[in-house]
Amino acid sequence: MMEDLAMHILEILMNSIKAGAKLITLKIKDSLNDDIIEFSIEDDGKGMDAEMAARAADPFTTSRTTRRIGMGLAFMKGLAETCGGSFQLDSTPGVGTIVKASVQKLNIDTPELGDLGEMMMESIQSDEKIDYVLEYTTDYGQFVFDTRIIKEELAGVSLLEPEILIWIKEYINQGIEQAKEDTQQ
Ligand SMILES: Nc1ncnc2c1ncn2[C@@H]1O[C@H](COP(=O)(O)OP(=O)(O)OP(=O)(O)O)[C@@H](O)[C@H]1O
Ligand SMILES: [Mg+2]
Repeated sequence: MMEDLAMHILEILMNSIKAGAKLITLKIKDSLNDDIIEFSIEDDGKGMDAEMAARAADPFTTSRTTRRIGMGLAFMKGLAETCGGSFQLDSTPGVGTIVKASVQKLNIDTPELGDLGEMMMESIQSDEKIDYVLEYTTDYGQFVFDTRIIKEELAGVSLLEPEILIWIKEYINQGIEQAKEDTQQ
């Protein structure tokens, strides 16, 4: 089941991938000072018209033609509301979509953030041509990961090489740990 925030976010990333995104920007603010975990997932996929966008976070809305009902956005919205946060969806056909949500960090119902390295690795694995920017910000520091830079450094080596995927996961998780510890200079 959907246990941590990373798994919820992965569902939103999958929506962006399905929508044909070439670049997905995920920003996470993780702040004890403000008692908030706030995230936004922005893509340059096909977008939704106003009518679809208005209904997209309802539990029974999907453009799927197979049986499974659409739950990614509805779960995210429900989680945000349960955890003292907010949810917002903005989309423009032909331009892209931005999903913003937040939860209170100290709310008893708020799940763990989870394994963001693993989440990014899984998302990257589904199509290495898609680029990602991950920006993780705490009260103390910031970690930024950009697949375009990694690809340049790899000079043609595939991101899907198992060692590279594992490296990406660990690099992200280390960067995140660092951002949690950084002392203000
Ligand atoms: N980033 C996006 N770009 C364009 N359309 C989107 C995007 N995210 C969601 N949608 C539209 O909103 C619908 C609902 O999304 P949601 O994630 O809730 O369910 P789903 O993706 O259809 O099904 P599931 O997540 O269970 O596989 C999608 O079917 C799609 O039409
Ligand atoms: Mg979905």
